[in-house]
Amino acid sequence: MNATGKIIEARKLIDAARMDGLSIGFVPTMGALHEGHVALIRRAREENGFVVVSIFVNPTQFGPNEDLSKYPRTFADDLEKCLASGVDLVFHPDADEMYRGGSSTSVSVSGITDPMEGSHRPGHFDGVTLVCNKLFNIVGACRAYFGEKDAQQLRVVTRMVLDLDLPVEMVPCPTVREADGLAMSSRNRYLDREQRGRALSLITALRSVEEGTANGERSASVLLERARQLLDADAVDYLEIVDPSTLARVDVVDGPALVCGAIRLGATRLIDNILVGGKR
Ligand code: PAJ
Repeated sequence: MNATGKIIEARKLIDAARMDGLSIGFVPTMGALHEGHVALIRRAREENGFVVVSIFVNPTQFGPNEDLSKYPRTFADDLEKCLASGVDLVFHPDADEMYRGGSSTSVSVSGITDPMEGSHRPGHFDGVTLVCNKLFNIVGACRAYFGEKDAQQLRVVTRMVLDLDLPVEMVPCPTVREADGLAMSSRNRYLDREQRGRALSLITALRSVEEGTANGERSASVLLERARQLLDADAVDYLEIVDPSTLARVDVVDGPALVCGAIRLGATRLIDNILVGGKR
């Protein structure tokens, strides 16, 4: 396994692999790798000749009051996980390498960035699309593996790839959960015992919508009202039922719909979603 923090080195190694006829599988991450990330890496390993994982805690996607400085950094452990999962190249630039004194260019997807995460984290998706665009330009033509855990991010980046004709095939991967249902997240490690227990209320609430629709309830407001009562959080940023492609709110659940939620427990913010009424 190779590891480099330099763009020019990463390009050289990836171009050489491509020249050897290998397909490139790419898994962009912010490190603090867990089984959710590893599932993406395994899938990339199965489907490609050369696997690149990027580890970069991207400052431009964090708001001024968010957890950039406290974001977990576990680089040695991340490298071990990458090695064990058969990664060929870990690209781990620092902020200077990626942003050399800033960025005057913005990459902004409109519409689907407005609700949910977009409305609670202003500027967040501009940071995500900017860095993904840069990473895709560094890695080049590839299959890129993204988790359904971040359902809105997946759709925003997919839209950008389509709109800009980037040579990237997006591969959505299912959310990996703890045995009790909590979606794996780098931020789970912030939770104390009591918060870890209450964190479970998010998936319980989402699943109550699934159960409600299975029992014939179609009204989004009725389903959401019941679900909201199950949440045990310090604050609820949102709990919504949306169209899986447009992310517009639905009033009547009569087909596939995404149930999405974001809660806060102390300083920790958790998001999760499930698809109801059909296959993802
Ligand atoms: P990060 O939060 O590290 O996540 C990297 C990738 O892992 C994302 O595609 C995310 O959806 C996926 N992932 C996280 N938890 C998962 C889980 N429990 N099951 C399945 N997949 C999971 O998302 C980012 O980083 C950044 O925004 C990034 C795209 C790297 C841009 O900076």
